[in-house]
Amino acid sequence: MLKLDGKRILLGVTGGIAAYKAAELVRLLRKSNAQVQVVMTHAATEFITPLTLQTLSGRAVRQDFFDPNDEASIGHIDLARWADLILIAPASADFMARLAHGLANDLLSTLCLATTAPIAVAPAMNQQMWLNPATQANNQQLQARGIKLWGPDAGEQACGEVGPGRMLEPSELLARTAKQFSSQILTGQSVLLTAGPTQEPIDPVRFIGNRSSGKMGFALARALIEAGAKVCLISGPVALTTPAGVTRINVDTAAEMQQKVAEHIDKCHIFIACAAVADYRPQTIATQKIKKNQAEIALTLTRNPDILAEVAARDTPPFTVGFAAETERLTEQAEEKRRLKRVDMIAANLVGAEQGGFEKDENALTVLWEGGSKNLPMARKEKLARSLVATITERYYAEKHPTKDS
Ligand code: PMT
Repeated sequence: MLKLDGKRILLGVTGGIAAYKAAELVRLLRKSNAQVQVVMTHAATEFITPLTLQTLSGRAVRQDFFDPNDEASIGHIDLARWADLILIAPASADFMARLAHGLANDLLSTLCLATTAPIAVAPAMNQQMWLNPATQANNQQLQARGIKLWGPDAGEQACGEVGPGRMLEPSELLARTAKQFSSQILTGQSVLLTAGPTQEPIDPVRFIGNRSSGKMGFALARALIEAGAKVCLISGPVALTTPAGVTRINVDTAAEMQQKVAEHIDKCHIFIACAAVADYRPQTIATQKIKKNQAEIALTLTRNPDILAEVAARDTPPFTVGFAAETERLTEQAEEKRRLKRVDMIAANLVGAEQGGFEKDENALTVLWEGGSKNLPMARKEKLARSLVATITERYYAEKHPTKDS
């Protein structure tokens, strides 16, 4: 039998004929030892009574945003924090639209905005409503934000039509819930991650920078969240949306990145340096825009601090992972960096020319550690990030923590 010992599932039930299946879902979740808190929309109560779900879940069903009794027992922000997973089953077209637009006009939508827990939706609606471009656009937006889409199934519908829009069976939703937790191998671990470029100012309008888009680092942040980690992302200037659940700190320069890393390093178990930190910065920053009245000018550059090496040199360093961006002799140069910077692991990638690395959506990595290595072949950065997180996790528990619970 699937085990969800003590996991806290906030089950959102919205209006639709599939709401009756929520009763079976609550029963199965409870049988797997999960704690279940049901939150219903008003429309859902037209299809199934709160009393049924209250009896099965063993907890008072929450419906109203402004309910003085409910607020006295557990406030909506506390409820959003309580959940390990918010599962909306069934999720109506209307609820998905409201979720996609960030509305907070009832308790359930407010909880979804206020939580850092993963959210999964199990759509249930008429097949034309599901196929409608508006619903599909909402669906894509939700997935882009990291919300999991479980279903829908296709088949005969309550309205007599046949097509996609049936809610997944409760047993399938239970299986997905269990899988969600089984893959969360980094639960309870904090990861500090740097990403993107740094920009080193020359004058008020110009800077020295590099081609890092932040895509690799942000994909890693997302994969770490999927693995259950608590993620703090220190990012240089990039045009990317923060993955759901990630705490993001924006910086411009290497010095700012160094300072923010120093502020947060004590709290982390794993440090991953994916940022392309400028190695040098202009020694002086002109206070006014430099005029172009000379044929040549010279810039004197000063070495920036090596943030990664500083972290690895701490008395009690976290498990430390660096990147190496090379244009030639990849493994050899990366191995040298690993030894010089004294990091636990280094992920090397070729950059420049036609290879992956900077800016592209795909990349390949050679991961090196003391006594071992692994090639992660060319793949989209999202997929590659998941493989890298799996490799990091394996080494982290093997080297620093002989068992996950130690
Ligand atoms: O952002 P994308 O467009 O997706 O591109 C991804 C990437 C190519 C930027 C990424 O995969 C990558 O390779 N990041 C590291 C880039 C880099 O600066 O490599 P490096 O070999 O110069 O530095 C080695 C390591 O030291 C890196 O972990 C770097 O973060 C760290 N470092 C470097 C200099 C410095 N002053 N402080 C540092 O912490």
